[in-house]
Amino acid sequence: MNTILDVKFVQGFIRMCNDGWEQGWHERNGGNLSYRMKPEEVREVEPFFSEKGEWREIGTSVPGLAGEYFMVTGSGKFFRNVILDPADSTCIIELDEKGENYRICWGLVNGGRPTSELPSHLMNHEVKKAATNGMHRVIYHAHTTNVIALTFVLPLKDEVFTRELWEMATECPVVFPDGIGVVGWMVPGGRDIAVATSELMKKYDVAIWAHHGMFCSGEDFDLTFGLMHTVEKSAEILVKMLSIRPDKLQTITPQNFRDLAVDFKVNLPEKFLYEK
Ligand code: 13P
Ligand code: ZN
Repeated sequence: MNTILDVKFVQGFIRMCNDGWEQGWHERNGGNLSYRMKPEEVREVEPFFSEKGEWREIGTSVPGLAGEYFMVTGSGKFFRNVILDPADSTCIIELDEKGENYRICWGLVNGGRPTSELPSHLMNHEVKKAATNGMHRVIYHAHTTNVIALTFVLPLKDEVFTRELWEMATECPVVFPDGIGVVGWMVPGGRDIAVATSELMKKYDVAIWAHHGMFCSGEDFDLTFGLMHTVEKSAEILVKMLSIRPDKLQTITPQNFRDLAVDFKVNLPEKFLYEK
């Protein structure tokens, strides 16, 4: 192990940033990514830590994450540049024993701070860690074009977004059977939007921010990127469909979804299978 960049989770983090950039979801500094490190991964990268920075306030309290380490993108940093110079664009942070402060252990070598959406990332991590028995480790925020477009024309309701996006591709209810939550427009970067988003994350793995983008949670980089990709692809189909003609000639029906749920062994909540 010559450098921290050889470590597997660091490589996975960098690749995911670049994949998101290539999808067109990260104009300028848009979007952010965080990964909750495993204890053995912390031990693996500790030898590369720089002198630890000052403790700084997270801006919210996440006691369920006390003492944990995260790899996070930097605020104002461009996803486009992560692959070229990860030590400039990303960092590893440690949380204190109360889950109220963080300090930088590695990265952001030219200065800066973790993403402005750190409160949302950490509150989502806290909820998901508890809800999945520690399985979920990745929180991803992207400015997904088609999902954003839909937030101008669909009612901002969990039931509507879930159902419309399920209908656009047969695999969707299998990939996100719990559905999608929607947060109405709010000022980003603070505690209030973090509270609203993490409340939805108790039920869903996907939360849409109206006129802004999406948050996804998952076990690893593949599953979380794949989830973002699946939802956004479905949104693209819906945008295309609505552009061709506003009504559907045929679609996947509520009973089709119930049949699918049996064969694919997923539970699809009835609240999404309403009659239109
Ligand atoms: P950061 O550059 O602070 O991560 O902010 C980007 C963003 O997408 C805010 O919602
Ligand atoms: Zn954003």
